[in-house]
Amino acid sequence: MNMTQSTTSSHTAEAAAPGKLYIAGEYAVVEPGHPSIVIAVDRFLTARLEQSEAYGSIHSLQYSDKPLRWERRDKQVTLTEENEALEYVLAAIRVTEQWLLETGTDLSYYHLTIDSQLDSESGKKYGLGSSGAVTVAVVRALLRYYQQEDHDLLVYKLAALAHLSLGSNGSFGDLAASAYTGWVAYSSFDRTMVRRWMDECPLHQVVEMDWPSLSIEQLTPPGSLQLLIGWTGSPASTTDLVGQVKAKQTEMVASYESFLEESKACVTRMTAAFRAGDVPTVQKEIRHNRLLLNQLKDITGVVIETPSLTQLCDIAEAHGGAAKSSGAGGGDCGFALFEDKTDLSPVLQQWAAAHITALLLNVHEKNNAFI
Ligand code: PMV
Ligand code: MG
Repeated sequence: MNMTQSTTSSHTAEAAAPGKLYIAGEYAVVEPGHPSIVIAVDRFLTARLEQSEAYGSIHSLQYSDKPLRWERRDKQVTLTEENEALEYVLAAIRVTEQWLLETGTDLSYYHLTIDSQLDSESGKKYGLGSSGAVTVAVVRALLRYYQQEDHDLLVYKLAALAHLSLGSNGSFGDLAASAYTGWVAYSSFDRTMVRRWMDECPLHQVVEMDWPSLSIEQLTPPGSLQLLIGWTGSPASTTDLVGQVKAKQTEMVASYESFLEESKACVTRMTAAFRAGDVPTVQKEIRHNRLLLNQLKDITGVVIETPSLTQLCDIAEAHGGAAKSSGAGGGDCGFALFEDKTDLSPVLQQWAAAHITALLLNVHEKNNAFI
């Protein structure tokens, strides 16, 4: 597929959404108003729509051999055979189409094809956020297909409503990174409140409202920063890990509250250092955030930094990097930030010897011709 084109004629439309990687503020960001930093990486998931007659189909190239057929029942897209692997795709379609219906759009049939670079070639997950990217790509492709403006905030909100409709326990920072791209400072909204609005108001009104505590801001990173991402090779479930931490937090109220406060202070200082182009302070706060996440493990017993992630961090630290686990940890990826001009070859060699795969990814900055 030609990844550099985005077509917006009335019969076809395409959108690519990047994967994401958390840099700081994990777990605390699940609580509304607690900041995180998330980046978009240059691996993509593409959603392509082509108009059809009488029935539609969804073909996720990495998940099924053949397209699955759908029909419109009570105006709602319904698969003729259920398929759990497509729950995010269906939720994204249903929420976006609901918004389109309420804004007076006539809906049609189409074939949707999804092509993802976000899992490893052996099919193992990297933890780069394929469920977030698929939601963002489908929402954006549909808005384009129906010739609506695909503003990032609208895309983010529709994607977040899709994930809320599935009962997700996450912060939706993955959706913010995937929709906005680049380096993103993100705080989640009050999800209890927005869920209530969903029950009480038409969807387009929910979208129009100001969502309490939501904050999404693109950061300009210092030019003199090198980011190196390492993959441990073991997949981790964010939903399970967040669920385990949530289950413990009620017993550990005081220490959990102080974790939240300290994470907020740390990420706020880090964000200010990003704005000031102050690499040593960014590095100092990455190390501090690693410490806080290790304390969260002591509070909850949930292993965030696995032995492999500790190795990844220790090797990078020995060569001047500031390193930590990314996201929920428990496997997946870690990363390190180095001063510009640091020779990374010894890190790469030692990571390889420790069975850590360097993922040679760059931060993806938006280029509208592309996403
Ligand atoms: O492991 P990831 O990359 O899905 O990141 C999860 C980050 C958490 O803060 C632990 C959860 C969330 O949804 O923000
Ligand atoms: Mg993860």
